[in-house]
Amino acid sequence: MAQAQDERENRRAKLQQKREEAKLGGGQKRIESQHAKGKLTARERLNYLLDPNSFEEIGAFVKHRSTDFGLDKRHYLGDGVVTGYGTIDGRLVYVFSQDFTVFGGSLSETHAEKICKIMDLAMKNGAPVIGLNDSGGARIQEGVVSLGGYADIFYRNTLASGVIPQISAIMGPCAGGAVYSPAITDFITMVEDTSYMFVTGPNVVKTVTNEEVSSEELGGASVHSTKSGVAHLTGANEIECLEQVRSLISYMPQNCESLSPLLEYELGDESRAELADIVPDNPNQPYDIREVINGVIDEDSFFEVHKGFAENIVVGFARLAGRSIGVVANQPAFLAGVLDVHSSQKGARFVRFCDSFNIPLLVFEDVPGFLPGTDQEWNAIITNGAKLLFAFSEATVPRVTVITRKAYGGAYDVMNSKHIGADLNFAWPSAEIAVMGAKGAAEIIFKREIKEASDPEAALKEHEKEYAVIFANPYRAAERGFVDEVILPEETRVKLIKAFKMLENKVDHLPKKKHSNIPL
Ligand code: HXC
Repeated sequence: MAQAQDERENRRAKLQQKREEAKLGGGQKRIESQHAKGKLTARERLNYLLDPNSFEEIGAFVKHRSTDFGLDKRHYLGDGVVTGYGTIDGRLVYVFSQDFTVFGGSLSETHAEKICKIMDLAMKNGAPVIGLNDSGGARIQEGVVSLGGYADIFYRNTLASGVIPQISAIMGPCAGGAVYSPAITDFITMVEDTSYMFVTGPNVVKTVTNEEVSSEELGGASVHSTKSGVAHLTGANEIECLEQVRSLISYMPQNCESLSPLLEYELGDESRAELADIVPDNPNQPYDIREVINGVIDEDSFFEVHKGFAENIVVGFARLAGRSIGVVANQPAFLAGVLDVHSSQKGARFVRFCDSFNIPLLVFEDVPGFLPGTDQEWNAIITNGAKLLFAFSEATVPRVTVITRKAYGGAYDVMNSKHIGADLNFAWPSAEIAVMGAKGAAEIIFKREIKEASDPEAALKEHEKEYAVIFANPYRAAERGFVDEVILPEETRVKLIKAFKMLENKVDHLPKKKHSNIPL
């Protein structure tokens, strides 16, 4: 009896000892070295990301199977990645968190298998996957099985795209082909100064192109959130990035067949007098579209993404009477809100995310057209502008546009016009819906008259006025039904709350097809 008791105690102690070993990852010394770099460990990160005590680990005792290069003598329980599930605001999420203290978080065959297992569970159970990346890339000692492991993940990322939300936080190195898993996911946030992403690092760059560049200059958070657009968000530190992930999740549904959480909201006085004074009388004077967005949506609910990239368009999540919505808005305060290559790409990707996950779209439009020039044409503004047009046209979620001022040229069509399937278009009295601005139009259509006039400047002004009277207003479009209603700025919030409520059960389908062929 006593022997049986001892055996039981031993078994329990063995489990306890293994659990403790797994928690230590690569060991105390490496944990300290991680802290000394200003970084948290894989487990500490999960504690900040998830609700308290909600994390359940899967695969804590997994070991690699490699024997080359002395690896048969180096085993760490968990093999460099902590995987499992937990909750954020009580909602299920699946997580993996790479442990840099074990072989630099490098990806082995078994490390990859753990991530795949989590992704498979997430797909079957319809919940988001969040990856915390901190890795030296492929486990160099393993060779091709590590590459195979990456591909297994990329394949799952692709199959999961549009089925469950996928979010990546880059909390350390993410280099080589490893970048392609985050790249396929829906949103990437990067920690400033301590994370970087690149396909080929500074040494290879130096060898191939002779450029001298640091990791930060090549692929730090600042570069990817402003120049390349690879990162949607950055945080001053790891905790800020993890909080961003929690916020993002709060606007999203669990999967493509469910809806985002609807927060309780009691309607009160929803008129917003302050909206009346935002758009300047002079049509060429800029204003910050965020003032309009913040004036219309629920207080402090705007969660902007891709803020520093292609600033001529503003995208982000918000709530309207507690309902999660995606906002896409031209930004007159930057390049007059013109559409160009980057802003079209940024807008299109956001629209497609919202449409994949049943998040209604609200568009604020003040756009003078597409940006002219060789730079734009040679960088395929045709193909890229078409992405935004295509993304809106294909979106079947409720879609509403408010034209605050300019809706010129092709950009009018593109920015969620009724013609491409928007449910409702509103316009403010300051709206101008025309092929182009009055001056440009007058210069073309009255070219001869202006040239032959005794005072060409006065003639131009006269014809400009004539064109403006006809088109620099919302009424021609409203007469045609292209604009459903001309509304006062202060009425906008009320109108939109009612519109999205009216559209909440919208059902719309695209023609049967294998998939579309968006101009990539
Ligand atoms: C195995 C690795 C490793 C790797 C780091 N380590 N990267 N082990 N495979 N890829 C180990 C180190 O040996 C070390 O082990 C520990 O992790 C910490 O590494 P350090 O170099 O001491 O850390 P640090 O100075 O912070 O530098 C981090 C680093 C550097 C910049 C990531 O380790 C590095 O350059 N690693 C190699 C990166 C790389 O070339 N990876 C392959 C990319 S190609 P000890 O025992 O000392 O703690 C690729 C292809 C993927 O990934 C393709 C997918 C399609």
